[in-house]
Amino acid sequence: MTIGIDKIGFYTPNQYVDLVELALKRRIDPAKFTIGIGQDKMAVAPLSQDVVSMGANAAAKILTPEDKAAIDLVILGTESGVDNSKAGALIIHRLLKLPNTARVLEIKEACYGATAGLQYAKLHLLQNPKAKALVIGSDIARYGLETSGEVTQGAGAVALLLSAEPHILALDLPSSYYSEDIDDFWRPLDQLTAEVDGKYSTTAYIEFFEKVFKDYQAKTGLTLEDYAAITYHLPYTKMGLKALKQVLPMASDEKQTELQQHYQQETLYSRQVGNIYTGSLYLALLSLLNNDRVLKPGMRIGLYSYGSGAVAEFFSGKLQPNYTKYLDPIYYLELFEKRQKLTIADYEAQFKAQLEPIAPGQVLENQDPSAQFYFAGVVDKKRQYKEIK
Ligand code: CAA
Repeated sequence: MTIGIDKIGFYTPNQYVDLVELALKRRIDPAKFTIGIGQDKMAVAPLSQDVVSMGANAAAKILTPEDKAAIDLVILGTESGVDNSKAGALIIHRLLKLPNTARVLEIKEACYGATAGLQYAKLHLLQNPKAKALVIGSDIARYGLETSGEVTQGAGAVALLLSAEPHILALDLPSSYYSEDIDDFWRPLDQLTAEVDGKYSTTAYIEFFEKVFKDYQAKTGLTLEDYAAITYHLPYTKMGLKALKQVLPMASDEKQTELQQHYQQETLYSRQVGNIYTGSLYLALLSLLNNDRVLKPGMRIGLYSYGSGAVAEFFSGKLQPNYTKYLDPIYYLELFEKRQKLTIADYEAQFKAQLEPIAPGQVLENQDPSAQFYFAGVVDKKRQYKEIK
């Protein structure tokens, strides 16, 4: 029996900032953002989209009535949850009308939460092979206006439907993980913007990658030659490349070229969206699967997850026969094309508004025609969500 990813859904709000325009406004050479950091656009969530509505939107895209009936586990991995106590997954579970005979929870560990959810779901499905599990990574990445992290913000959600005998990626059973208490990125309880030791976070990301990659090699005997591609958590697209380059010398020249070519395909969506923290690795996977014409069923993909603070994990999976039938690349081309560009002034105004609490009684309208669910405001201190029928 195999366990793995049966379907992948993605949602990002319909507005973005052009990073060349942002660079010019900040009096920075645009090439620093587009080449040095490797980002072109950055998704911006309107007030009416939060991690709950974005997560529900990502999942609604992929779930059939049969999938819904089989789901008995729902996990939301998020850094930017909307309540200090209640799991946002419970609201998503209600919005999607999923069975009450499900276990529903939220996991926090910076950008690692969705991977923790995926690994938990894998073990759960090994014991309950007839069930399906929904794992969502949903986040709004906020560092602050005019900070060095500003160019690495973003917003979006990825939903993974996991099952036995999956249609897209069957996960290999082993996994290698490494954890250490470090202060590279964190967000105090009273802050909506992250604190970060930027340079330290990039070296930690690479050091942790080398540790888990080597451990995985020792555990499984798999070498770089065994992977068609390695997908990375992408806080920005240059980051994964720096990690990949650390291990490339272990491969033949031909393999090195191949891995770098596949890497370009996995970065295409992230370049348009920015960092979505927990969903970022799985957005890279979706980008690779939707855009790479060289991949074939049976090929092995490596996955590197990194959550600051910090926990890292390396694992792998094999592409399944006919996996392309379960993807929808045209939908995502259109999703990106339909987005609206914000002026820098509009982006700054929206950013400032997001740092203020929603006024009691303030009613929010949906602003995104591609959204099925949106956040409608707060009544009696309870968050309200609405579905567009
Ligand atoms: N043309 C081309 N390239 C240029 C350039 C120009 N005119 N000017 C600068 N560059 C290059 C630099 O040489 C540098 O390249 P290398 O990294 O290859 O040396 C790159 O652009 C970035 O330049 P700086 O290092 O000077 O940039 P910075 O000081 O403004 O900080 C950053 C960059 C540390 C990534 C910052 O944006 C940041 O703190 N971001 C948030 C933290 C983050 O994303 N960390 C990643 C690892 S942690 C993680 O993965 C978890 C998570 O999601 C948060």
